[in-house]
Amino acid sequence: MDKLVAGNWKMNGGLASNRLLLDAFTPVSGVDMLVCVPYPYLSQAQKRTPSIALGAQDVSEFPAGAYTGEVSAAMLRDFDCTFVIVGHSERRALFHEDNATVARKAAAALAAGVTPIVCVGETLAERDAGRVMDVIGAQLSAVLEVLGVAAMARIVLAYEPVWAIGAGRSASAEQVAGVHGAIRAWLATRGVDAGTLRILYGGSVKPQNAAELFAIQHVDGALVGGASLVADDFMAICRAAAHR
Ligand code: PGA
Repeated sequence: MDKLVAGNWKMNGGLASNRLLLDAFTPVSGVDMLVCVPYPYLSQAQKRTPSIALGAQDVSEFPAGAYTGEVSAAMLRDFDCTFVIVGHSERRALFHEDNATVARKAAAALAAGVTPIVCVGETLAERDAGRVMDVIGAQLSAVLEVLGVAAMARIVLAYEPVWAIGAGRSASAEQVAGVHGAIRAWLATRGVDAGTLRILYGGSVKPQNAAELFAIQHVDGALVGGASLVADDFMAICRAAAHR
């Protein structure tokens, strides 16, 4: 299974700067590339980078109707989005999304044929308290409860330790290996056929640490924030993931 490298632009960009960035993204063989742009730029990205998968950074839990400001999964499909990030730690922390909301968003995405990239991860305080898998287990349980065992195998997971996001320093290889292995074991124990379920790592992935991260067992790709806004860096990370 090729690795998936997903860029998360967060709330950055503009028509002019996007043009330069998107034009510099060229497909790399042996890796699946994805760019998750802010909603207003979906159309621009859809037209400029048809060879790279397109995604969004959030989605409504509702299918349609009187939900001012919301964007449905079916709307994302209209722009050829094949993926959507749900439950990013910034949405959990700043916009008060709880585990149940994240689970319903994942279900809404799947129902419209969009693969949710469900983000899980602990804060530094939770890690220091030895609660990493308690926290991640609760995040995963909520999703499993809503999706069920069969659909759970069709999502992508992203392990993003909150303390490594935008921090300049990623989790260590041992920490990443430990959590990715524990997530696989968690899924297996609950009967999820996770053979093709990809677990991405996210949190300060850069060209300098990408190769080391991609060499870790059960790291099936990366969710890249800051470095996805620099064309050379994103391309270097994609090349590091190719044929691994
Ligand atoms: P970062 O962000 O690569 O800038 O640490 C990762 C993310 O938030 O998905």
